[in-house]
Amino acid sequence: MKQLPERSRILGYGMAVPKKVVTNFDLEKVVDTSDEWIRSRTGIERRHIAEEGETTLSLASDAARAAIADAGLTAADIGLVILGTLTPEIGFPATACLVQEEIGAVNAAAFDFNAACSGFIYGLQLADSLIRGGVHQYVLVIGAETLSKITNWEDRNTCVLFGDAAGAAIVGPSDDPERGIISTMIRSDGSQANLLCRMGGGTRPVTEPAKNFIEMQGRDVFKRAVTAMGDAAEAILAEAGYTGADVDTLVPHQANTRIIEATAKRINLSMDRVFVNIQEYGNTSAATIPVCLAEMKQSGMLDPGKLIVMVAFGAGFTWGAALMRS
Ligand code: ACO
Repeated sequence: MKQLPERSRILGYGMAVPKKVVTNFDLEKVVDTSDEWIRSRTGIERRHIAEEGETTLSLASDAARAAIADAGLTAADIGLVILGTLTPEIGFPATACLVQEEIGAVNAAAFDFNAACSGFIYGLQLADSLIRGGVHQYVLVIGAETLSKITNWEDRNTCVLFGDAAGAAIVGPSDDPERGIISTMIRSDGSQANLLCRMGGGTRPVTEPAKNFIEMQGRDVFKRAVTAMGDAAEAILAEAGYTGADVDTLVPHQANTRIIEATAKRINLSMDRVFVNIQEYGNTSAATIPVCLAEMKQSGMLDPGKLIVMVAFGAGFTWGAALMRS
């Protein structure tokens, strides 16, 4: 009988962002806003915006190649490519299939899913289950977005918030039972889907052009995000018998520093143990957490033995958390 791995572990990390940087000062010239308002209300200072030739597919493929190299694998080793996005390259087929072709993952199955900003946590839960169940050995989980393409650049309520990026992780069996993914949890509540949505872009007809862009009731989303992310972080730690004192780094979805601070407070964590890069990239939806992880890997924050909590919240609503020992 096949020996099933006790734990899965993230074996490689990668990220890609567009070259062009748009600062808050640049946005002051586009809409009625100010660097001071954006920084104090959100923590964002800059965002990277895709230009000609930079797309969800190109960013996802670059991040995927980096993650595969970081894991010491080749693309042919990958058994499944899953890509979380709300800005796919084309209507269909799935952007994951295009990535598969682009990187040469010739032995993989591939599909997209849309869990908005919680995409990476959703993908991680699936990858972890499939690996521990012996279905796949190596799963490539990607969060990739070009939100700039569905942003209403005339709406100051939303256009200052978003950016473009991709992050990727290779999940595979852990050779050390002390290291790897300890647990994951995901949830949804579709009852308030209209608070954060893009009504166009699907098969339902829309008449107003604005419906083809992201719409958000910021204040309501903010409240739900604070509660859901705090609850998720607290629950995932409690169920594993940990408290905030055990955590080396909290890796939250990067939507707003005030939401991040509230989440850290809920688990009694000081901000020096929270990874924040929102100032550089803004909210890149499914890409935020894997981009954080790729940067942490580079700076040694994922050296063996670190207890890492990831927590996300997004449109749907969707939310979730993951706990791992690096
Ligand atoms: N510049 C200047 N003023 C602005 C701007 C801007 N860019 N945007 C809004 N304002 C104004 C508003 O018009 C309002 O003015 P008023 O009082 O005269 O009406 C005032 O600022 C306050 O607006 P609020 O919406 O109450 O501001 P708030 O403090 O809530 O911050 C924000 C807004 C940043 C959007 C916040 O609500 C937030 O972060 N919400 C949650 C975002 C989130 O978590 N999204 C989930 C994931 S995203 C995804 O899934 C794709």
